[in-house]
Amino acid sequence: MARVELRQVTREDVGRIAEWLKDPEVAEIWFGRYTYGDAAHLGYDPEQMLKANETEWNEVFHDPHHHPHRDIFSIYTLEGDHVGEGQLSIDEALGDSQLSVLVGRKDMWHKGIGTAAVLAMLEHVFEHLRLHRAWVDVPEYNMAARRMFESIGFQHEGTLRQSRPHEGARHNSAILGILVDEYERHYPEGVTSHVIDWETQRI
Ligand SMILES: CC(C)(COP(=O)(O)OP(=O)(O)OC[C@H]1O[C@@H](n2cnc3c(N)ncnc32)[C@H](O)[C@@H]1OP(=O)(O)O)[C@@H](O)C(=O)NCCC(=O)NCCS
Repeated sequence: MARVELRQVTREDVGRIAEWLKDPEVAEIWFGRYTYGDAAHLGYDPEQMLKANETEWNEVFHDPHHHPHRDIFSIYTLEGDHVGEGQLSIDEALGDSQLSVLVGRKDMWHKGIGTAAVLAMLEHVFEHLRLHRAWVDVPEYNMAARRMFESIGFQHEGTLRQSRPHEGARHNSAILGILVDEYERHYPEGVTSHVIDWETQRI
């Protein structure tokens, strides 16, 4: 099983994310484009963030009052290569968290990195934050992500109709979710996919 390290996001990391999103294959399958043309990205615009001052940076990466609460971290291999980004969007009132994961280095796809990063996030969601449910919103054209989440144990919960604009048309997306007892059944020994080097393991 691949192993990853989760770290706080640095400006150099954001620079690499902006580069990865210049690849149309990565950008289009991720969140498409803003109306002004840049590749869209959940939570912040990497190109804009590269110019952010400290206050603007902290509002995105260290804002304890943002609702829903965000935890954003960089995914590194144990060899020290930055390969992607994971995000949690935590709704404490509902006891759940939306997940998203980007393995931006295409040459690293199909090596189990995405799975390892999601398992690391699930451990955080269920074992540290003690939430009840984790979920993802996956557009129908992203079969790779759908297969990956289903192989981890996520189940189809519902369909959002025509929720995603993509290549000139609107597409449905699937809400896939996993509950805490399902996670515990799938991973009774916990998960060992990662090392967390993440000072702000808070909330
Ligand atoms: C989806 C994504 C995270 C998968 O990352 P990855 O590191 O390649 O994933 P894994 O190697 O852990 O793959 C796990 C399983 O998912 C499935 N899968 C992954 N990529 C696939 C593809 N292109 N086609 C079909 N199935 C695929 C396979 O079942 C795979 O297992 P296998 O490689 O043993 O066949 C990566 O392709 C990516 O970042 N895509 C762009 C962003 C995105 O779509 N994010 C998900 C939405 S939140």
